[in-house]
Amino acid sequence: MSSVTPTPHELQPQIIIAGVTPGQTAAYDALVAFGESDPDGFWLNEAKRITWTQDPTRASTSSFTGDVRIRWFEDGRLNASVSCLDRHLKERADQPALIWEGETDGDRRTLTYRELHTQVSRTANALRSLGVKKGDRVAIHLPMVAEGLISMLACARIGAPHVVMFGGFSPEGISERLVDSGAVAVITADTARRGSKRIPHKTAIDQALKHAGTIGAVRNVIVVTVTGDEVPMKDGRDIRFTDLIKNQSADCEPEIMNAEDPLFLLYTSGSTGKPKAIVHATGGYMVWASYTFGTVYPQEPGDVHWCTADIAWITGHSCVVYGPLANGTTTLMYEGLPSWPRAGRWWDIIQRNRVTSLFTAPTAIRALMREGDDFPGTFDLSSLRSLGTAGEPISADAWMWYYEVIGKSRAAVIDTWWQTETAGIILGPVVGATPMKPGSATKPLPGIGVVVTDDKGNVLEGAAEGCFCITTSWPGQARTIWQDHKRFRETYFTFSEGKYFTGDGVRRDEDGYYWITGRMDDVINVSGHRIGTAEIEDAVAVDHRLAEAAAVGIQHDLKGQGIVVFVVTRASRSGVRPEDIAAVISRNVGRYAAPEKVYLVSELPKTRSGKIVRRLLRKIAEGQTGEFGDLSSLADTSVVDTLIADVARQNQSENV
Ligand code: WT7
Repeated sequence: MSSVTPTPHELQPQIIIAGVTPGQTAAYDALVAFGESDPDGFWLNEAKRITWTQDPTRASTSSFTGDVRIRWFEDGRLNASVSCLDRHLKERADQPALIWEGETDGDRRTLTYRELHTQVSRTANALRSLGVKKGDRVAIHLPMVAEGLISMLACARIGAPHVVMFGGFSPEGISERLVDSGAVAVITADTARRGSKRIPHKTAIDQALKHAGTIGAVRNVIVVTVTGDEVPMKDGRDIRFTDLIKNQSADCEPEIMNAEDPLFLLYTSGSTGKPKAIVHATGGYMVWASYTFGTVYPQEPGDVHWCTADIAWITGHSCVVYGPLANGTTTLMYEGLPSWPRAGRWWDIIQRNRVTSLFTAPTAIRALMREGDDFPGTFDLSSLRSLGTAGEPISADAWMWYYEVIGKSRAAVIDTWWQTETAGIILGPVVGATPMKPGSATKPLPGIGVVVTDDKGNVLEGAAEGCFCITTSWPGQARTIWQDHKRFRETYFTFSEGKYFTGDGVRRDEDGYYWITGRMDDVINVSGHRIGTAEIEDAVAVDHRLAEAAAVGIQHDLKGQGIVVFVVTRASRSGVRPEDIAAVISRNVGRYAAPEKVYLVSELPKTRSGKIVRRLLRKIAEGQTGEFGDLSSLADTSVVDTLIADVARQNQSENV
């Protein structure tokens, strides 16, 4: 036996069976069996969760081989907003659909299903009055305000795919996405609150549009008054949201869409510098968002679900907007930061609104853990039944803290694994049926088939570690990358013939539980935000004083991963400072991509074919000075010592 004293979480039972009942386990097993034996029947049955104008008669007609074709419920017709709003009016018109909590104390807004239906209809009519038609793309660039959710549903109502953009994107980043998506209108805010700071929204759009020049298709900029800060308005192009919807009718005939018509585009990062717009289709997405949310977070009358994700991420789309509303529950949106204006802000919101399910990211859990147990201890959190987490691997430590301190060992911790491309939960526990293991996203939901492969794409059986692939299509699967089907096929379907490759590494244990080990490609996950190393490197490349750059992700206590950039300057490196490079990255990519550290080095480690060996850079960035493993692929091994010396010198000079 080891003489080391175990840390408390190691003393915890590895499996937490709390709340699992034989009845629910049997129902779950039956569902898994149904999904395996008759996938078509299974999904046509789940399709009944939503409202169709014309019911689909077929489920999937997808193929992962050849040109790759993902299609679901092809002959079905529907409007997504009807499933989120209209059909609830009979039973729950006066139930809150949305509770919005502002960052400023006491700033609160509740919209019942009837009120939300009215707001969405008026906004949809307003967009139509500007000439926005079915198929036109509309960009939404807002902080966490009710108008964000309203605008998304208004777009859905008129069949105009929305493209929600994160407030942290740089004007260059926004411009690139506006041009690529061909958006005809942008819905933005004057400015946004972020703790004591103000984030420019309208002026960022102005800059982005200037940048896009004549290649952009934007005709109108609609400005939501969030802070009341003065912003320039351009005659004929810019219009206030309130002015626009003022005289609009509260009746808006929904556009009836084919199941395969796109509902939205959402940008995410991959291995190249160019962000890709993932395309999701109306029918499949709605069934999937409703199924995954409703299965993992079953709602009861009076429940309040709070997903803290920004609506600009897939989590916001599926777990703030479409999933909760399709399930007829109350969704809560919070404008601000977790600990603003004081620690305990989140717990106060939970107590006051009797939140029943909370869904957040490990990065937030780690930050809240740091504040200590006293804050949550002083609030009544007894309403909480489920505690969700997603976006990055969660350590057993953080998991246990969430379970014990927030959930008082009563609420289930729900670690769910998914992606922008999957649009909904692929791995996750079903409360009452799946025993939990701290740190594992457990098992695939019924109807889903996943495998572990070796690095050649061969399927591994039993307990194994390797690459995480999905074997058959699911309704919410991305249909394509906007205007780049080739990239779609090559990114996801060439790794292992006939399978979708997620880009993640995974371990499967003896009990068939999955443990995600992180990205296997050149994508860094900073606080749950995906950033491609190439995006950072391209941004740095615009500075002509620099020869080349390599970005790597290193372990970070709070953010999960932090960014470290190695930069080689041109011969006359006079005047280049690491902080200038950090500023270039923040400006060109966005604040969320600000690096932890920038090292100016004489050269980068490369293979004989010229590929940067990031694995080595990562180790050096994490402070390792030896035991680098097999370096035979390096063109020149002397680079290792030079790099270590360069890094040490700069770390040294910082300490004086
Ligand atoms: C990547 C997708 C949850 C959707 C929001 C993120 C990582 C996601 C987990 C988890 C470990 C996770 C993966 C994935 N990831 N959930 N529960 N455990 N890693 O969507 O921005 O498209 O990022 O996030 O690496 O590939 P996204």
